[in-house]
Amino acid sequence: MNDFNPLVFSGVQPTGNLHLGNYLGAIRKFVALQQSHNCIYCVVDLHAITTWQDPTELMTSTREVTAAFLASGIDAKKHIVFNQSRVHQHSELAWIFNCIARMGWLSRMTQFKEKAGKDRENASVGLFSYPTLMAADILAYRATHVPVGDDQKQHLELTRDIAQKFNNDFSERIAELGVGVEMQVGDERVNGYFPLTEPLIEGPATRIMSLRDGSKKMSKSDPSDLSRINLTDDADLISKKIRKARTDPEALPSEPAGLEGRPEADNLVGIFAALNDISKEDVLAEHGGWQFSQFKPALADLAVEKLAPIAAEMRRISGDADYVDSVLSDGGARAGEIAERTLKDVRSIAGLLQG
Ligand code: AMP
Ligand code: TRP
Repeated sequence: MNDFNPLVFSGVQPTGNLHLGNYLGAIRKFVALQQSHNCIYCVVDLHAITTWQDPTELMTSTREVTAAFLASGIDAKKHIVFNQSRVHQHSELAWIFNCIARMGWLSRMTQFKEKAGKDRENASVGLFSYPTLMAADILAYRATHVPVGDDQKQHLELTRDIAQKFNNDFSERIAELGVGVEMQVGDERVNGYFPLTEPLIEGPATRIMSLRDGSKKMSKSDPSDLSRINLTDDADLISKKIRKARTDPEALPSEPAGLEGRPEADNLVGIFAALNDISKEDVLAEHGGWQFSQFKPALADLAVEKLAPIAAEMRRISGDADYVDSVLSDGGARAGEIAERTLKDVRSIAGLLQG
């Protein structure tokens, strides 16, 4: 726990189709957190370009993710929605964090290993230092809580490591300038400039798996479109994909323990639970003993009921690029003011002359 004012920050990359994993693992939580927290939600275009993006498609995707945020119920007036590249303080802080983070820390990142694949020599330097930019996104606002899917856990641990090393390396300057905040770290009260940000990863949908292979996560980059439900899919396509989803021949168990060793069944039950905002226990208490031939149509109906209105609203909002751009520019201006206050402190702390 720390004594910073609670603030939620999260980001989504504009790299192609948003899918059910993004929605259940992240966006839906963004919407819920608005009730209890101040929230900043960012379309992370600078992260997207760590791998090649066609410029025209990047602009379209940035607007589409923004439209998905708004269509899902994010209130860009009460909270902040913007695209990362508008607020140059993220890049500046990322550079400073590049000088705090150690090569060894970044070399252990599994997302880099996965994305770089075998041809590591040919991966961009940006892909390697991706997590320092992510730490900068979060810490430019001194955010305390970050809702994400399970795949981002390691990046958030790294964010804490960077915050902690910065706080330690500059502890005397932070005290001298009086810009620190007292926080609890383990059993101790310590003074630091950056919070040790907590990930918010919980519920039945932290890791939605591919509909074709229960051992792979649902992903934008899977070559098979049948592996994922896109937020833009229409009712027929959603039903078809669920009908064709891989399953085993057994009936559903009546308790979650019975899902062990049945990744595809587990995944569909998790999706049903998350869409309905209930637990897997609740789903199985009601549907235990059902065959997939019965359960799949029920799941398809539920998915269509929940997703179709969002898809329709997304299409409506995406059609008005000027409106979307005005949301991003207003959000960027408000985010920039907060981030600049942080960067002023950070420059002073690090001894970078300014002003
Ligand atoms: P990305 O599209 O990689 O920027 O991811 C945006 C958000 O969606 C992040 O919080 C991810 O952790 C989350 N996410 C992506 N794929 C999945 C998945 N298959 N299941 C749950 N969450 C996911
Ligand atoms: N790395 C995240 C992903 O791929 C996206 C991201 C960038 C992010 N900056 C962030 C998420 C800051 C949370 C907070 O999903």
